[in-house]
Amino acid sequence: MRAFLYVVLVVISCDGICSLLLPGKEHGPLRNSAAQLSWFSRVRRLPRPSHRVIDPNEDCFLVTSEEGKLYFKSPSDEPNVCGIYMIAEPDTRIQVTFNYLDVPCDNGGLVAWVDGWELNGQVWPADAWDDDRVVESCDTRPQRKLISRQNAALVQYRVPAQGKGFAVTIRHLRNPRPCNVMLFGAEGVYTLRNHGETGNCSIIAVSPATVKILDLNVGQALKRGSLLDIETGTIHHCTKRGLPDYVEIGGASGLDHTKMEVLDSVCGLDSNEGRRPAYVACEDTVVRLVSKGKFYNSVTLAFAPLPLEELEHADLICGMNDL
Ligand SMILES: *[C@@H]1O[C@H](CO)[C@@H](O)[C@H](O)[C@H]1NC(C)=O
Repeated sequence: MRAFLYVVLVVISCDGICSLLLPGKEHGPLRNSAAQLSWFSRVRRLPRPSHRVIDPNEDCFLVTSEEGKLYFKSPSDEPNVCGIYMIAEPDTRIQVTFNYLDVPCDNGGLVAWVDGWELNGQVWPADAWDDDRVVESCDTRPQRKLISRQNAALVQYRVPAQGKGFAVTIRHLRNPRPCNVMLFGAEGVYTLRNHGETGNCSIIAVSPATVKILDLNVGQALKRGSLLDIETGTIHHCTKRGLPDYVEIGGASGLDHTKMEVLDSVCGLDSNEGRRPAYVACEDTVVRLVSKGKFYNSVTLAFAPLPLEELEHADLICGMNDL
């Protein structure tokens, strides 16, 4: 992922996020464009600057995986809503410092820090959302320290005052216990763990993808008592069998993975690589680990982009139930 240091979405520009988080306005381009094709395929890559001035015409929808400083100066009095979508390595958090903020509150001027991503009125990670995740400011800089709980965060802004703006410094901090992880580009091997805790962790790839389970240890390793270590193999449909801990594989038509369509739920102890990957033809590919807290769970997954020619052989095509 380090390979593309700066990525900018050119085609859809502001269209995806022309409303601030709260009034969720539905937007066309992401939804109805070329069915399952992800917006990721239309991303433009830029060379690596560590200081950068946001170009209001090109960068309204800016996706960056870089650390560094960003400046924004409003070109007009138009109330356009734009966003800086930050994403970093899976085992990091994102810290944003506002070096200065000169955005008058008049006419709806606003800068919002979002601990997560928002797109088309959907937020991620939706099942761990709370009011602390959004900090809105104008006139003065946010007082709180802004550090995300996962490897993706967002600064949304509307500056309807020509010449006004803000500057931020983005840093990536190490996260020893990642729970929710966003993948940009759907490539690589990742392990989800609950660290023995109750709760849900997830990986979302912002594109169609193939997902293969390389190693599975879910609902087996008791926190108390002896480890039996019986290779059960991969057990399918674990939710139907009423097993407490499981991994759901599927996809979603948007960032809200609580609305995901589930292809299978698996659990068990299986150190053999899965035979065939799941082909998920959805805007977003999702894997969720659900843990009730009695076991140490882990699942290692290989993600790869879904080849276009495999689209018709996909195991899951999102939105088919709506037809
Ligand atoms: C975790 O997921 C399960 C199953 O979807 C759900 O019932 C539960 O409320 C979730 N827990 C949290 C903390 O979100």
